[in-house]
Amino acid sequence: MIECNHGTVVISDESDIIVARKTIREVSEKLGFSLTDVTRIVTAASELARNIFVYAGSGVMSWCILDTGNLVGIELTFEDHGPGIADLKQVMQEGYSTSKGLGLGLPGSRRLMDDMEIRSRVGEGTTVVVKKWRRG
Ligand SMILES: Nc1ncnc2c1ncn2[C@@H]1O[C@H](COP(=O)(O)OP(=O)(O)OP(=O)(O)O)[C@@H](O)[C@H]1O
Ligand SMILES: [Mg+2]
Repeated sequence: MIECNHGTVVISDESDIIVARKTIREVSEKLGFSLTDVTRIVTAASELARNIFVYAGSGVMSWCILDTGNLVGIELTFEDHGPGIADLKQVMQEGYSTSKGLGLGLPGSRRLMDDMEIRSRVGEGTTVVVKKWRRG
């Protein structure tokens, strides 16, 4: 796997979510994703960045271009040192929320992207990694 380009956006304020969205829109447009896929990627990035802000207070989003030689994609990593998640199965269920949200951010992001991995430890923090491959 050749990772030729990457960047980070610190999420510590609500306005940083806008910066994260704008950054990911630009990167995925440059990569040649379809308009629909750009919207999917930006929506997932927005939800995952918002989760950092709401549950952890602050964290970092990083993006990375994936190039296998015949496949191009984007990988987004959302890392925080917030409270962590005790039950990963529970938070992936649609409608589960500890903040009176809709409980759709994580399950929705998983559907919008090709791949999602969550690592979390209570008291240490959470890392969510999502990937999307360009079609055609
Ligand atoms: N980074 C995080 N750190 C700690 N807990 C988290 C984090 N992200 C999500 N969670 C937990 O997972 C639950 C589900 O998250 P999800 O984004 O799916 O829904 P929500 O944020 O509650 O509502 P919505 O995103 O639909 O507004 C949250 O309510 C919260 O308890
Ligand atoms: Mg959410």
